[in-house]
Amino acid sequence: MILTDEFRVERVASHQLHDLRRRVLRNDDAALYHPDARDDEVTSIHFGGLLGDRLVVSASFFPSSPPMNPTLVTYQLRYMATDFDVQGRGYGALVLAVAEDELRTLGAQQIWANGRDTALGFYRAVGWLSVEGSEHLSPETQLPHTVIFKRLDDDAQF
Ligand SMILES: CC(C)(COP(=O)(O)OP(=O)(O)OC[C@H]1O[C@@H](n2cnc3c(N)ncnc32)[C@H](O)[C@@H]1OP(=O)(O)O)[C@@H](O)C(=O)NCCC(=O)NCCS
Repeated sequence: MILTDEFRVERVASHQLHDLRRRVLRNDDAALYHPDARDDEVTSIHFGGLLGDRLVVSASFFPSSPPMNPTLVTYQLRYMATDFDVQGRGYGALVLAVAEDELRTLGAQQIWANGRDTALGFYRAVGWLSVEGSEHLSPETQLPHTVIFKRLDDDAQF
């Protein structure tokens, strides 16, 4: 994992993430990219990874009842993306680590996502687990996804 002094993680406004989300997650096709209906709700939390003024990582969290452990306080991660030329430098992992710390302080016990199958290795590397039998095609992209989650509380029972 390579981290440099110039990389930092901040809370950002949703509009700062649209360009990166569209390019990395929707093949730079404006017709395929729509802001999330929950983007500007007060309970939504957006994190950006920045190199100087350039936003290179996006991660958005929305309070959400998950398909597993529904009694836990849970946020759904959506729009996890690292810009193409800086993937593999540890930036995505760092953004999630900062986000998890902040969400924990807000009382979150669990985070979950519909993870792209091509990205499952990333999520596994940073401690997420897959829900067996949850494989599905995303209705938005038609790409294979799997439900994944991570417990954030100390007495996590997997
Ligand atoms: C998946 C993605 C967000 C990972 O971000 P990143 O900044 O490149 O990841 P990092 O450099 O922080 O990687 C952290 C660890 O995950 C591993 N990893 C990253 N992407 C991986 C992948 N696709 N498959 C397997 N392992 C992967 C890294 O090797 C690293 O492991 P290490 O700690 O053992 O060295 C990024 O590749 C991306 O934006 N992909 C395209 C969009 C996408 O699929 N987003 C997820 C939607 S659910």
